[in-house]
Amino acid sequence: MLFTGLLLAGCGGGGPVDVQTADAVPLRLDRDDPGKLLGSVLGAYLGPDGGDPVEAGLLSGDGDALVLHPQRLPEAARAALADANGDGAIDWEELAAMLEATYVDARDLPPTLDALRQQADYRAGEPEWFTVEVDGVMTAARRRIHVPLAALREAMRAFADGGTLDYPAGTWIVGEHAVDGDVVETTVKHRRPDGYWDFAVYGPDGALAPATQTEPRSLRVPTQCTGCHLGQRLFEPEKSFPAEAGDGPFGPRAIYVPDAWRSREATALFDEHRRRDDGVLGLYATLYAGRLLADREAGTLGDDDRRLLEALGL
Ligand code: HEC
Repeated sequence: MLFTGLLLAGCGGGGPVDVQTADAVPLRLDRDDPGKLLGSVLGAYLGPDGGDPVEAGLLSGDGDALVLHPQRLPEAARAALADANGDGAIDWEELAAMLEATYVDARDLPPTLDALRQQADYRAGEPEWFTVEVDGVMTAARRRIHVPLAALREAMRAFADGGTLDYPAGTWIVGEHAVDGDVVETTVKHRRPDGYWDFAVYGPDGALAPATQTEPRSLRVPTQCTGCHLGQRLFEPEKSFPAEAGDGPFGPRAIYVPDAWRSREATALFDEHRRRDDGVLGLYATLYAGRLLADREAGTLGDDDRRLLEALGL
């Protein structure tokens, strides 16, 4: 029996593969939408702007028959990749180990929050930044999310023109995690020109970190970020908006905005959390449009904002 088993394994898998020298290695990821996942995580190794791993010759095949070409990976990434279980293919655990060891260095992100603020001064607040507070699914800490208003308005105009909320390349979205009023960690998304977002976490010391630390569970970069951010699952409190959401297992689920901003029309128009155009999960266009509608009601809307609402048909 054992002998037959070994023979079969030998025929099917071809034995362990040496990723350091092989030209082609089968990928067996057993993940939803592997093309999108690989576009995001392998695109990260194609230079500052990212890129298409198929066009770059790093990936070939499709569907269940994806093949990685490890010689096209940067040296440091290839060195961290191995067919650890010797089954002749790279599975998700093996790829994840390589990503968790090398992604942050490969992305050339600002090494500290001070350096990040020189590129994106998210604490400047209005009028450059639109800020909302959320108790959501990522952490038990309160999240304060900062979205650059020029980029948000550009995405809303793109929606008015072409029906999708596309953010410009280079957009930073920053989520600060506050416990008892202190920022204990910061999570970041940065829009690459290739259409995907980079993910980053800054720890309590303000330096890039491999994972979040707040309760209820640590989230590793980028492997756990992509799990939710590239998936289709709906989360509270975004799912119930504009209605209030019930509590989650580790506290409230809520978006802290004035009731006047909770517009049914804007929520229905963008259908923002479910559609997640451009891979963005929060309700920034919905909330901002809700605020403009409240301003219109109050008679305080400026001309630019009036035109934006008109273009959106709100
Ligand atoms: C359990 C699912 C889940 C995981 C895992 C997750 N996120 Fe999120 N993320 C969300 C949801 C839902 C939102 C929108 C609501 C919010 O901000 O809480 C969001 C919002 C964000 C935002 C604001 C931009 C946006 O898309 O709305 C950033 C930045 C962000 N996440 C970064 C990260 C990073 C970095 C990681 C990995 C360390 C990560 N996320 C892991 C679900 C998740």
